[in-house]
Amino acid sequence: MAWPSGADGTKMWCCERLESAVAPPSDETINKVLWRIPNVLCLVGSRAGEEWNGMTTSWVTQVSMEPVLVAIAIDRSALTHRLISQGGAFSINLWDRADTRPFVKFSKPATKEGMTLNGRPIREGSTGVPIFEEAIAFIECTVWDQRDVGTHTVFYGELVDCGFQGEGEQAEVARMEDTRMKYGGVKRH
Ligand SMILES: Cc1cc2nc3c(=O)[nH]c(=O)nc-3n(C[C@H](O)[C@H](O)[C@H](O)COP(=O)(O)O)c2cc1C
Repeated sequence: MAWPSGADGTKMWCCERLESAVAPPSDETINKVLWRIPNVLCLVGSRAGEEWNGMTTSWVTQVSMEPVLVAIAIDRSALTHRLISQGGAFSINLWDRADTRPFVKFSKPATKEGMTLNGRPIREGSTGVPIFEEAIAFIECTVWDQRDVGTHTVFYGELVDCGFQGEGEQAEVARMEDTRMKYGGVKRH
């Protein structure tokens, strides 16, 4: 890992202190520590015209109360990135932690057949994005702002609709720790 220098490359006083004070942590340590951050595991729905997608996503968090904003960080090379950029909206589909099977399949572009993605039934939300019928709860957002941050873009979504589905209010939401999957840490080259 190189020592940090900020988005614009400007080194600050604290960076000089850092360089003389400690050795940088190894990639292995960075991975192990960052993987300990508890994360939800959900499906992000996106759409531009006739292109629809669902994507396994873990970097999701609320970032403002007024307006209500939920941020997701999306890899700049992902199909979902293009669909959200073009479509201007996305859905966050929270899943039952008892059924983590969909997350493997949705780690690559999904196949749409009728109103299904990878065989999972969807409906059209008020913004046009897919909402998974089996999700225990959904949050539908329009893009309020976005910012490129290194490998990813943070999309700040303004909540336009949300709700529980089926018995969702009684269910427990899927988290990263419910699977053997990992995401994050340093980029593998
Ligand atoms: C457990 C897990 C969590 C993930 N979390 C994210 C995430 O938060 N953001 C992201 O951009 N990609 C994430 N991914 C990777 C995407 O699911 C994967 O790169 C996908 O192929 C890109 O989706 P798309 O090209 O179908 O849009 C995650 C993958 C896994 C397996």
